[in-house]
Amino acid sequence: GLDQQTIDIIKATVPVLEEHGTEITKVFYQRMFEGHPELKNIFNQTNQRKGDQSKALAGAVYAAAYNIDKLETILPTVKQISQKHKSLNIQPEHYPIVGKYLLLAMKEVLGDAADDAVIGAWERAYGVIASVFIETEKSMYKEMTDTVGGWTGFRNFKVIKKVKESDVITSFYFEPADNNPFPSYQAGQYITVKAEIEGEPHVHLRQYSLSCAPDEGYYRISVKREDAINHQPAGIVSNYLHETLDVGSILPITAPSGDFVLNQTDDRPLVLMSGGVGLTPMMSMLETVVKQQPEREVYFIHAAQSGNVHAMRDAVKEITDNSSHVSSFVIYDRPTNEDKLMNNHDKEGYIDEEWLTSVLPSYDANFYFCGPAPFMRAMYQLLKGRQVEDCNINYEFFGPASSITG
Ligand code: HEM
Repeated sequence: GLDQQTIDIIKATVPVLEEHGTEITKVFYQRMFEGHPELKNIFNQTNQRKGDQSKALAGAVYAAAYNIDKLETILPTVKQISQKHKSLNIQPEHYPIVGKYLLLAMKEVLGDAADDAVIGAWERAYGVIASVFIETEKSMYKEMTDTVGGWTGFRNFKVIKKVKESDVITSFYFEPADNNPFPSYQAGQYITVKAEIEGEPHVHLRQYSLSCAPDEGYYRISVKREDAINHQPAGIVSNYLHETLDVGSILPITAPSGDFVLNQTDDRPLVLMSGGVGLTPMMSMLETVVKQQPEREVYFIHAAQSGNVHAMRDAVKEITDNSSHVSSFVIYDRPTNEDKLMNNHDKEGYIDEEWLTSVLPSYDANFYFCGPAPFMRAMYQLLKGRQVEDCNINYEFFGPASSITG
């Protein structure tokens, strides 16, 4: 453990670090990539450019440091982050590198305010925090190698099927290229793909949710092609997958990971809400629940812009047609004239409280949602406003985790 003096210094300096968080983070990444350019192959360079993700890592270190004398309270958060690290194949030897550059950045930004006593205290605290992560990840990696068909790091899979789901979403079905067994997963989990794109200076790693029920004999991801809009360039990985990946192509992926998973011990109504491509983990959960808890009442609510970009409509319809316990609702915020003529949606606009209350029997249910940040924020506020407890509110971010609870 750490001595009281160290703990006191840490607690006194956390607010200062948070105040300078953006600047420290910027310097941290800049110096780290100068010293270790190979790490550009691991960190999402698109998020780096946008600056979104950048604060998550340092912010989590400060949050952990603030709780340094009661680290057990942040273990759930550690586990969640470690799932992401596991999916990225982060190794123990990476931790001292991150620690070194975090301290360097602190010194550079804070100047004299970061004297030897302060830096020494942070060095010790980081060591303690890092070892909690390293141990957590070690046991996760061990679990993977102990699983039949399991693996760590990247394993080549080959595309066995490619299906266009909408104007912007395409599904890819995968089998291991080595034809050996591969493990099951829990509905809601994701994999990391390694995109080695010609002409790119480094490889790109991206996470995609598995979009079907486990144990189908394949893995499936469903990828939204991110087109260029306004000042935002087109998504490099999503376009690569759409354009170059075909039946027979090989893609290295990590084993399924993540703790946003369907709780099958609960038998109260299950409410699955998605916005856009946030539909993918919800499809996996829907297919799973109808197989494994066929008596459970399920509400599948999907918000999309319009019918043109609405994926997997038929797959959902097939499920609702075959189960009297599943109800499905579709909301378009920009329905086309054709959508209006066909009357193929239940509501125009967004999911709001009045509408949700009218379709659900009660708010005593297990809620899962996934989608863009504004959608997630709105759903979270809506459910909190209806006194739904945090343990019944489950959500997953696509892209950089940012706060939706504040
Ligand atoms: C993501 C914390 C060490 C690489 C994250 C996230 C947090 C975090 C909060 C965001 C999680 C999410 O998106 O769900 C930490 C803490 C660390 C640490 C507290 C030290 C105690 C490391 C190390 C590496 C690493 C040593 C590898 C050099 C990454 C990467 C991501 C990530 C690549 C994905 C986001 C991106 O690509 O920018 N980490 N991390 N982290 N972490 Fe760590």
